[in-house]
Amino acid sequence: MPAKVNLHLDVGPVRPDGFHELVTVFHAVDLFDEVLATPAPALSLTLRGDVDGVPSDAQNLAWRAAVLLASHAGVRPDVALEIIKAIPVAGGMAGGSADAAATLVACATLWNVPSADLPALAAELGSDVAFPLLGGTALGTGRGEVLTSVPMTEALHWVFALADHGISTAEAFREIDRQREAEAAPPALDAEPLLTALRTGSPQAVAAVLHNDLQPAALTLAPALADTLRAGEKHGALAGIVSGSGPTCAFLCADADDAMKLAAALRAEGVGRATRVASGPTPGATRVG
Ligand code: C5P
Repeated sequence: MPAKVNLHLDVGPVRPDGFHELVTVFHAVDLFDEVLATPAPALSLTLRGDVDGVPSDAQNLAWRAAVLLASHAGVRPDVALEIIKAIPVAGGMAGGSADAAATLVACATLWNVPSADLPALAAELGSDVAFPLLGGTALGTGRGEVLTSVPMTEALHWVFALADHGISTAEAFREIDRQREAEAAPPALDAEPLLTALRTGSPQAVAAVLHNDLQPAALTLAPALADTLRAGEKHGALAGIVSGSGPTCAFLCADADDAMKLAAALRAEGVGRATRVASGPTPGATRVG
């Protein structure tokens, strides 16, 4: 399942259910976690790869996805899950959501659940779980789970700078509420400039309108990210933006060659814990075997 970056993220008011109203544009990039699901006597979860701090019990969203799907199918959740992680943990790229989505897809095959049932179950698990089922680029409304695909003709080339520590999504949303306490006017929710730029197919046009309402909150929680964003722009990114609730920083580049050069420059300067080069959009819900 692919990771995501939000090309546009407007955070609206808090709803009665405690979630914020969002208008966002999700974009799937080719950084993947893999989930293997094998019938077993009981539910278990094994993690491999970049898994620092990831729980391997019912705290893990993939575990909860298996339990929810089994109850929907009327079977016991007797499956051994193995997750091979490449998406940064607590990085603002929805890795946990991608794992949960992949678990739904893999277990649906085992338990004969129609794929049409999966988006509603995904939305129950989390605001970002429905998108990796769909992949590509999509407008997200509601709390992020109401999706409309946005066709794109050209690929976008990215460099991601990973941070040393994660940021909890809930904490980023609490911080934006704190920062907005003094504001009287409700925030505007409008992805139109980004959607118009996507139709041109030009990375320069997209770079000019990348927007993330959660960025000031992420910069308050992790002030060093301002240096990361500056370094990316200094070394040739068209634009840099915090990915989702952070702390991963996403840099849009003019082409694949520029992305490779930028990643090398950031590595040489020791910016971030690691860098990843990726492109999007990439499809969601890929079942292998
Ligand atoms: O839905 P998910 O579990 O990914 O959300 C994690 C946390 O992020 C929520 O508990 C909530 O605090 C915050 N959130 C929010 N509004 C959204 C999505 C997430 O306040 N639309």
